[in-house]
Amino acid sequence: MQVIENIQSLRELRRSWQINGDVIAFVPTMGNLHAGHLKLVKHAKASADIVVVSIFVNPLQFGPDEDLDAYPRTMEADVAALTELGVDVVFMPKAADIYSRGLEQQTFVEVPGLSYMICGASRPGHFRGVATIVCKLFNMVQPNKAYFGEKDFQQLQVIRAMVTDLSMNLEVHGVPTERETDGLAMSSRNGYLTPEQRQIAPTLYQQISHMAEQILQGRRDFSYLISEAKRTLAEAGFKPDYIEVRAAHNLLSPGHEDQHLVILAAAFLGKTRLIDNIQIHLD
Ligand code: PAJ
Repeated sequence: MQVIENIQSLRELRRSWQINGDVIAFVPTMGNLHAGHLKLVKHAKASADIVVVSIFVNPLQFGPDEDLDAYPRTMEADVAALTELGVDVVFMPKAADIYSRGLEQQTFVEVPGLSYMICGASRPGHFRGVATIVCKLFNMVQPNKAYFGEKDFQQLQVIRAMVTDLSMNLEVHGVPTERETDGLAMSSRNGYLTPEQRQIAPTLYQQISHMAEQILQGRRDFSYLISEAKRTLAEAGFKPDYIEVRAAHNLLSPGHEDQHLVILAAAFLGKTRLIDNIQIHLD
């Protein structure tokens, strides 16, 4: 496996793959890799000749009061895990190279609508930061396929919209959420939880799963289900941020005709913000 920090070296490699006609699959990450990330890599590996994984903690997608500095960085373990999986290239650019004109000078990619609702409403500018870095990484790696987790369902929809709207020449693939045995969605941020909070954390998935069951049984009083779930979360020690039931394809409030729904939730345990979601197929 090659570890590349330099954009120019990546571009040269990319040209050699082009000549061979290789199919390139790409998995962008912020590192601190867990089994969820590695699942994306396995999907990528199964579908391409060359797999590129990027590790870049993107300052542009963190708010001023968020955990950019504290974000866990575990490069050695990450490189070892990716080597084991047979990844071809890990791309670890420096922020100064990625944002060479400084963050204030940056040209942005903005996906309106989708970026402002739900998580975007709680984290202004977050999805602009995500769309911008993913667009830049796509320009550098020029993949044929890219893999994203359904764990970050809204992010996946933002990326799909960007790729469609900007006529980007690649396939976007979503991969189901990898969970701990107690149901908690794997996340780098789970490491922030105290042992007591870690015990409580699976309640988030339990609550949205319970809502999904009720909706599958015919319940349509979403506001009631949401307020019940929020109350249970608050009693368990969470500070709920949002719980929403939306149409999966555009994340708008579902109409009667919508058969594919998604419940999206975010809640704080202490300072740690956990997100999760569950899809519901009514047909
Ligand atoms: P990061 O949080 O490191 O996640 C990288 C990829 O792994 C994302 O596509 C995310 O959805 C996926 N992922 C995380 N946890 C997962 C889980 N439990 N199961 C399945 N997939 C999971 O998301 C980002 O980084 C950044 O926003 C990025 C896209 C790299 C842009 O900076």
